[in-house]
Amino acid sequence: MSACRWARSLQLTLAVIKPDAMAHPIMFDTVHQRILDNKFLIVRNRELQWRAKDSQRFYHEHAGRFFYQRLVEFMSSGPMRAYILAHEDAIQLWRKMMGPTKVFRAHITAPETIRGHLGLTDTRNTTHGSDSAESACREISFFFPDFDVSRWYEEQEPLYRAGPVCYDEETLEHRLVEQ
Ligand code: RTP
Ligand code: MG
Repeated sequence: MSACRWARSLQLTLAVIKPDAMAHPIMFDTVHQRILDNKFLIVRNRELQWRAKDSQRFYHEHAGRFFYQRLVEFMSSGPMRAYILAHEDAIQLWRKMMGPTKVFRAHITAPETIRGHLGLTDTRNTTHGSDSAESACREISFFFPDFDVSRWYEEQEPLYRAGPVCYDEETLEHRLVEQ
C-alpha cells in the first residue's frame, strides 16, 4: 500500500504488450514487473485478441507503408495485454522505457530498454505506447470503450493522487483503499 507519492497531477497513457511478448510468460512477467517497478498505477488492464480489421483500423495511419501488412498480420496473430497506466509523466516515461522502435537501434543504443532487452524484430518489438495526450485518449477508447477519460481526470485523478492505493495481484490493477 502506498500514500501521497505524487507532487504533480497524474497523466494517463495506453500501453500494450504485443503478441510476441505475450507468447512467452517470462517476457510478459518481465514487462509487467517493469511497469510496477517504475511506479505506474495500473488503472485498467485486459487481455484481448484482435481480428485483422481491428488491427487495420488501429494502424490506418501506416496504411501504404512497406511494413503495414506485416504489422497488421502480426498484431492480430495472438493475444495482447492492454493497460491504462497513470503516472506524473506517463506518456513520455512509458515511451522512454520502451526504447527505439527499430530493434538494432534498441539493442545497440538502448539495451536497458524493454525493446533493447526483449525486442525481436522491427515488427515484433514487444510493446506499444501512445505518443501524445490526444493519441492516449483515442487509443484508450479504442481498447477500453467503456472507460471515460475526461471523467477519470475529473473524478478519479484527485483520489488516486492522494491515495492510498494498493496493488491487487488478482486483477493486476491498483485500486483505491477505503479509509
Ligand atoms: P508504437 O506505435 O508501436 O508504440 O511504436 P512506435 O511509435 O515506436 O512506432 P511507429 O512508427 O508508430 O510504428 C508502429 C509499429 O509499426 C511497426 N513497424 N515496423 N520497419 C518496420 O518493419 C517497422 N516500422 C514500424 C512496429 O511494430 C511499430 O511499433
Ligand atoms: Mg507509434
